[in-house]
Amino acid sequence: MPRGRKRDLIIKGFSKLLKEDKLRIVAELMDNQVETIELLKSFWHSDVSKQKIFDEFSENTISNFYIPYGVAPNVMINGRTYLVPMVIEESSVVAAASSAARFWSEHGGFHSEVIDIKKVGQVHFLWKGDVGKLKLKFPELKKRMRKATARITENMEKRGGGILDFELLDFRDKLDDYFQIRVTFDTVDSMGANFINSCLEEFAEELKRFLAGDEAFKGKEKEVTVIMSILSNYTPQCLVKTWVECDFSELENLDEDLTGEQFAFKFHQAVQIAEIDTYRATTHNKGIFNGIDAVAIATGNDFRAIEAAGHTYASKDGQYKSLSHVELSGNRFKFWIEIPLAMGTVGGLTSLHPLAKHSLEMLGKPDSKELMMIASALGLANNFAAVRSLVTKGIQKGHMKMHLFNILNHFKATDEEKKQAQRFFADKKVSFVSVKDFLEKIRNK
Ligand code: MEV
Repeated sequence: MPRGRKRDLIIKGFSKLLKEDKLRIVAELMDNQVETIELLKSFWHSDVSKQKIFDEFSENTISNFYIPYGVAPNVMINGRTYLVPMVIEESSVVAAASSAARFWSEHGGFHSEVIDIKKVGQVHFLWKGDVGKLKLKFPELKKRMRKATARITENMEKRGGGILDFELLDFRDKLDDYFQIRVTFDTVDSMGANFINSCLEEFAEELKRFLAGDEAFKGKEKEVTVIMSILSNYTPQCLVKTWVECDFSELENLDEDLTGEQFAFKFHQAVQIAEIDTYRATTHNKGIFNGIDAVAIATGNDFRAIEAAGHTYASKDGQYKSLSHVELSGNRFKFWIEIPLAMGTVGGLTSLHPLAKHSLEMLGKPDSKELMMIASALGLANNFAAVRSLVTKGIQKGHMKMHLFNILNHFKATDEEKKQAQRFFADKKVSFVSVKDFLEKIRNK
């Protein structure tokens, strides 16, 4: 435990301090104050204007946290081939995605279709009144809510989106006096969180004005308690389906001990296990999000929102299940994913983060639907690679091979030692201990 400044110290007004002062306060918590400041500053961008962009993304920024920016080549989707940017720290993910993408590029590529791009927002409120009256008046209220947000929705409507529908939902059987106005939106190419939330807060105000001013409502009916107005990150209607398919014979070379048909059978079993067992489903879906999150981060999208929606969708039938599925029919293997992906290609970080902007340019400036297809294809690619390894040689061989450099770096191996280790471990199992032993041996020579 580092000594220095007391760890339970409450710091008032921290956010108002200069960056250098924040850095100094953080360093005071550590034993090695000079090195701490040097370390954190060494990750500042040398171009002050670029650093300023990063500083302003968040509050209390004192440094940048690097994560590798990689590329998965040969990702063929609906006949078009992409180089897909992936931001991820886990050593084997880009390699796994690339190898699956290469395999499928030679077997028809990924096929993908966006089912819909609707998003949802909610005004949650408590009201003690005659629900029949409210239902009767709801068409009028809807018109008023649209009017109240006309300024906000103007631009979105020009781009082909806007408010799609309003619903009044009565939840009084679950919570006293609780109602909800559920609104569906089309936010076109933006993720649309700010747009949706701004509209919702206006709707809530309009609801209060409407009930207070309309003669149909009397006494207590004029009062409403708005609890909150916020978008839902559950987007089951912002959905994409992506699949690969081939004859069993095309799966022949995926493992030296299995025929194509045997491979298809084992793969199918593995996916079915993820459909019936929650423990396995969670890991299975984590493998899918390895690919999806990496694309989401590289393109400046909100990966927490995407994950939240994905996991909820995985539970839509009452039990958490695999997001991907397999069908074997005749001699055909079909592997697909259906997943909600609320992604944007305009607004938010997509143009503010220089590398997110670059990623989208590298992908040929896709619209949100195309980006949904790309991200889901990477999710499926990573899932295919993981399950392929699991049902054949096991995950550790490939995983630890990619992890070799991390272990070597842990032991501060020189470039020459790394070269020797790569040669030595080319046909051997990598483990923390085996690398340690290897380094000890060559260092003691
Ligand atoms: C590791 O990041 C992901 C896997 O565990 C996924 C899976 O088990 O399917 C390999």
